[in-house]
Amino acid sequence: MDIAGFCTQSAVIIVAGKGGVGKTTVSAALARTAARSGLSVLIVELEGKSGLTSALGHPELLTYDEVVLSPGGSQAGSPAEDGRAMAEIRARTLTPDDALLEYLVDHGLRRVSKRLVNSGALDVVATAVPGIRDILVLGKVKQLERSRRADVIVVDAPAAGHAITFLTSAQGLLDSARVGPIRTQAADVVELLSDSARCQVVLVTLPEETPVNETVETAYKLEDSVGTSLGPVIVNGIYPHLDHLEADPGEAAAAAGVTLGPGEADALRAAAVFRRRREELQAEQVDRLADGLPLPQLWLPHLFTTELGLREVDQLADALAAGLERLPEVMAGPGGRSRSAESAS
Ligand SMILES: Nc1ncnc2c1ncn2[C@@H]1O[C@H](COP(=O)(O)OP(=O)(O)OP(=O)(O)O)[C@@H](O)[C@H]1O
Ligand SMILES: [Mg+2]
Repeated sequence: MDIAGFCTQSAVIIVAGKGGVGKTTVSAALARTAARSGLSVLIVELEGKSGLTSALGHPELLTYDEVVLSPGGSQAGSPAEDGRAMAEIRARTLTPDDALLEYLVDHGLRRVSKRLVNSGALDVVATAVPGIRDILVLGKVKQLERSRRADVIVVDAPAAGHAITFLTSAQGLLDSARVGPIRTQAADVVELLSDSARCQVVLVTLPEETPVNETVETAYKLEDSVGTSLGPVIVNGIYPHLDHLEADPGEAAAAAGVTLGPGEADALRAAAVFRRRREELQAEQVDRLADGLPLPQLWLPHLFTTELGLREVDQLADALAAGLERLPEVMAGPGGRSRSAESAS
């Protein structure tokens, strides 16, 4: 599949998954991939301090106001693809408090808005109306999408089990609120989440047992309760295959003209066994994921560095682009239905 084609399949790409699996890193890599194919990107970060800015080589934390993380054109420091100039990547945070403030101001309540928000009124409302925070945030995402703030809007979704609540609370509110502005907002959000031409969810997982189980479960829940369209599953942290793990350390050292110290051959042998076992375990989990979820998989390598910066993110962007290029044009949903079949019915 053409990279630009994938990125414009829907204006909003929500990157979701269990805590720590690499959502922020994947959001950054996806943004670079899209920008390199000439599409402007707005990354929306929901939690602050996600590490997004350092992954993209930007020195400061994000705020509610957009900042340019990587300029477009020739200054971008990365080769443009197909002769196209690299497009701009901007980013911002989006918190429920700020979204509420903006909502109130937009609805003629400027005078009370600051006081309401500062007095913690949102906490009171949030207790009375569960899901209101998610609706406020996603309502704002919808507004950004409608105003075409960028060719692609990448949303770095909240961690852990919250992703499901985050994406299903609009439907829940729609079922309970009969009339009023909350219902309108919830309806708009459900409309966005369930329209595959406007929004898709990309699930990120590690090739490990618990994340794989949760990913399969989340995929079906999202499709059943919201009708969200799911993009390919990103399997992050795949150990690159190493040849020669079967080699005898003593013989290999002798062939290379190196003398091993006492115990080194055993240590190397143990390390090789460990690594081989890790690769096997990952392969098992990747198969299990494929059995449980008929969605295409994109694999990202585990990078052996202490901190990921722009160079590493670009390495992951390369892997994403290569994986996307191998994807077929029509992708199946977790229930096995293809998108084109869905839109035809
Ligand atoms: N492919 C990779 N290779 C090596 N390290 C990685 C890779 N992907 C992510 N990491 C590292 O793993 C850690 C977690 O990644 P990241 O912050 O992207 O996860 P997350 O899902 O956004 O976490 P959270 O749920 O806390 O928001 C980070 O330190 C990141 O640099
Ligand atoms: Mg994160």
